[in-house]
Amino acid sequence: MNKKLIAPSLLAADFANLQRDIEMVNNSEADWFHLDVMDGEFVPNISFGMPVIKAISKHATKMLDTHLMIVNPDRYIQDFADLGVDYLTVHFEACTHLHRTIQAIKATGMKAGVALNPHTSARVLEEVINELDLVLIMSVNPGFGGQSFIENTYKKIAQLKEMILANNANTLIEIDGGVNDENAKKLTDAGADILVAGSFIFNSDNPNQTISDLKNKIA
Ligand code: DX5
Ligand code: ZN
Repeated sequence: MNKKLIAPSLLAADFANLQRDIEMVNNSEADWFHLDVMDGEFVPNISFGMPVIKAISKHATKMLDTHLMIVNPDRYIQDFADLGVDYLTVHFEACTHLHRTIQAIKATGMKAGVALNPHTSARVLEEVINELDLVLIMSVNPGFGGQSFIENTYKKIAQLKEMILANNANTLIEIDGGVNDENAKKLTDAGADILVAGSFIFNSDNPNQTISDLKNKIA
């Protein structure tokens, strides 16, 4: 895929004005909605779950890209499919039987993604890369928005890209954490396909314009 995508993370939205912020994304140049589900166990924070995603999906007109930061994600795969999630991403570090989990996600008709913590090498996905629709590289430690970008991410993108090409895979590369207008272009030049951005978009004076500027930067 050549077209580079922006996925605003609703974690940084105003939860008391969620419909307003969803409409902003609907009417913007953004491509996907990024939804961060945290369980207080895999990560030291709790965000939102099914009832909120159900409400979001009623209003969102773009792809729902759901990032599960939870232990034992297999328990809830069917629930997320029923809510209309398009891409379901689980953490490598949270799955004992990753291959089985990937197959279970795909069996529902959703696209399957795997996320890697900053300390996890891309090499761990070598045996499943052809099964994956997406790999999410965490460029901060998962759990919170607004953290600073980890520079080692560029090296990991290059390693992953090389693996994807060597295996003739169709896997998309998504970067999540600390994305802003200074690193966006460098990330897509390194091989990233989708950039998640939370606080950089929602904390700006004009989020719609910020999305549009980011899209122009990576076009
Ligand atoms: C962090 C989440 C991210 C987060 C990114 O654990 O996975 O999606 O919302 O937020 P920013 O863009 O503020 O780093
Ligand atoms: Zn995320």
